[in-house]
Amino acid sequence: MSGERRAAATRAISARIRHPSWAAKRSTADEAAARIASGATLGLSGFTGSGYPKAVPLALAARAKALHASGQPFSVRVLTGASTGPEVDGALAEADAVSFRMPYNSDPIAREKINCGDIDYLDLHLSQVAPMVRGGFLGPLDVAIIEVAAIDEEGRLVPSSSLGNNRSFLEAAHGVILEVNHWQDERLLGMHDIYRDLRDPPHSQPIPLVHAADRIGEPWLRCDLDKVWAIVETDMADRCTSFTAPDERAQLIAGYLLEFFEHEVANGRLPAQLLPLQSGVGNVANAVLGGLSRSKFEGLYAYTEVLQDSMLELLLQGRMLAASATALGLSAEGMERFRANIETLQSRVILRPQEISNHPEIVRRLGVIAMNGMLECDILGNVNSTHVMGSRIQNGIGGSGDFARNARLSIFTAPSTAKQGAISTIVPHVSHVDHISQDVQVVVTEQGLADLRGLSLRQRAELIIARCAHPDYRPALQEYFERAQRVKSGHQAPVLVSEAWSWHERYLREGSMRDGSTREDV
Ligand code: COA
Repeated sequence: MSGERRAAATRAISARIRHPSWAAKRSTADEAAARIASGATLGLSGFTGSGYPKAVPLALAARAKALHASGQPFSVRVLTGASTGPEVDGALAEADAVSFRMPYNSDPIAREKINCGDIDYLDLHLSQVAPMVRGGFLGPLDVAIIEVAAIDEEGRLVPSSSLGNNRSFLEAAHGVILEVNHWQDERLLGMHDIYRDLRDPPHSQPIPLVHAADRIGEPWLRCDLDKVWAIVETDMADRCTSFTAPDERAQLIAGYLLEFFEHEVANGRLPAQLLPLQSGVGNVANAVLGGLSRSKFEGLYAYTEVLQDSMLELLLQGRMLAASATALGLSAEGMERFRANIETLQSRVILRPQEISNHPEIVRRLGVIAMNGMLECDILGNVNSTHVMGSRIQNGIGGSGDFARNARLSIFTAPSTAKQGAISTIVPHVSHVDHISQDVQVVVTEQGLADLRGLSLRQRAELIIARCAHPDYRPALQEYFERAQRVKSGHQAPVLVSEAWSWHERYLREGSMRDGSTREDV
C-alpha cells in the first residue's frame, strides 16, 4: 500500500471500525439502501427490540415510499431472529415495502398488514429458521443487514445486544451490510458464545452443551470482507418494551407457580435450585421472575430466549448464577442497570445464536422449566398462543414450541378472562392449536393451577374447569363437559365437534362468550 493510501485508510478508521480495509467500506444509510433491489430476500439481525439494524431499514422505507410515489413497485422479503423495533417492522410495513415476513412479528402496523393479507407471513419455530435458510427452503438470501457493536483490529465483528440468526445470515447471504452502532456497549464482547460446528443431517453431531452456563464457541461473529457491500455507523438506541409493574392477576399467577415449585421440591421432583428456567416476556413472566427474587430459591440458572428486567434483578441479587439467552430484552432503565453492572455480568450472561438457545436437543437434556403465555386453553389442555378467535394472528409461536415440547416441565399461563371478562380464556375447544395437550403439563390462571401430568383427558378437563376457569364461566364449561361425556359415551375424548367453536362464535356474534349479553354490556 502506498504511503498516501495508507494515510487515507488510517484516517478512515473510526473508534468502532478499527481495521482499515473494513473502514474503507463506510457509507451512508441511503447509499447502502440504494443497493437493495426490489424483490430481494433480506436476513436482518434483531430479536425482540434489541440488536436490529436501524438506519438502513429506515432509509429503505423512505426509498420504497419515493418509488411508490413515482409509480414504481418496491418490496422486499424480510427474515429476522424474531420481533424487531419500529425502525424495521413498523417503518417497512407502513411504507408497504414488505411482501413476505418470517418468523415472528409483534409490531401493530405489520400485524394489520399481515392480517389483511398485504404481507405473506410464515410463523415458524424460532429454532428452525437457520436450518431452513441453510437448507435453501426460503430461496437465496440476497442481503444480510446486521447490527454490530464494533469491528476490531483483525476484522472480527463484536456482536451487539442480540444474536438471533446473525451467524447463519452472514454465512448464507450473497451481500452484507453492517450497521456499527455506537449506542451499543462494546463491553458486551465476551458475553456471546457463537458455536461454529453445527452440521446438518446426515452429518449432525451432538451439541457439546451439558450445563446452561457452558461456553462452547467464540465471542465474535465473522464475515468474509469481500461480501461486505457497505458499513454504516449509527448511534441509535434499542427499543424494548418498558417495564410495567405486574398487575394483580399476574401476581396471583406468580404466587401459585412459586407455591407449586416449593411443593415439587418438597416432594423430590425438582432440585432445591430448580432446573434452568425459560420464561416468555410480558407482565406474567415478569411477575413470576419477580416472585422468585423475593422467594427462598437460590442457585438458579436460566436457559431462555430473552433476558428481561426481572431476570437481571435475579442475577444482580446473586440468586441466579447465570443466564443463557439469545437477546437482551431490557427496558431503558434495565439497560442502564445492565451497563452499570456489566463487569459483574460478563461471566454470568451468555448470549447464543437462537438455533442453540432454543435447540430441542439441549432443552430436553438440561430439563428446562418452560413458562409461556397463551391466548386460550381448552378443557383438554390444548393451547392457542397465536390466533385470536382462530384467525387473527397476534404475534406468532416464537420459541414457545421449541421449549414446550422438549421441556422437563411445560407451563402455560394467562388470566382466566380477556376483554374485560367478555372472553373466557378457558374454552371447550381452542379455536387454533399451537401446543397439543401432550405438550402442556401445567396450566395457571389467577384462579389457580392445574397440574395435568399423568391425567387422562377426562381428568384433565375436570381439573382445568375446577382450578383455572373463571367462576362466571365454570358452570357453562361444566355443563358442556357433562353433556359431552353423555353424548359421546363410548368415545375417549369428551368433545362435541358441532359445538367446539360455539363459544367463539357467540363472542363474535354477541360480543361476549356469556349467554344472553350483548356487545354493549361489555
Ligand atoms: N381471545 C381473544 N383475545 C385475547 C385472548 C383470547 N383468549 N387472550 C388475550 N387476548 C387479547 C388481549 O385482550 C390483548 O388484546 P389488545 O392488544 O387488543 O389489548 C391481546 O390479545 C394480547 O393479550 P395480553 O393479555 O396483553 O397478552 P400477553 O402480553 O400476556 O401475551 C401472548 C400473550 C399469547 C400473545 C404472548 O405470550 C405470545 O405472543 N406468545 C407466543 C410467543 C411466545 O410464547 N414466546 C415465548 C418464548 S419467549
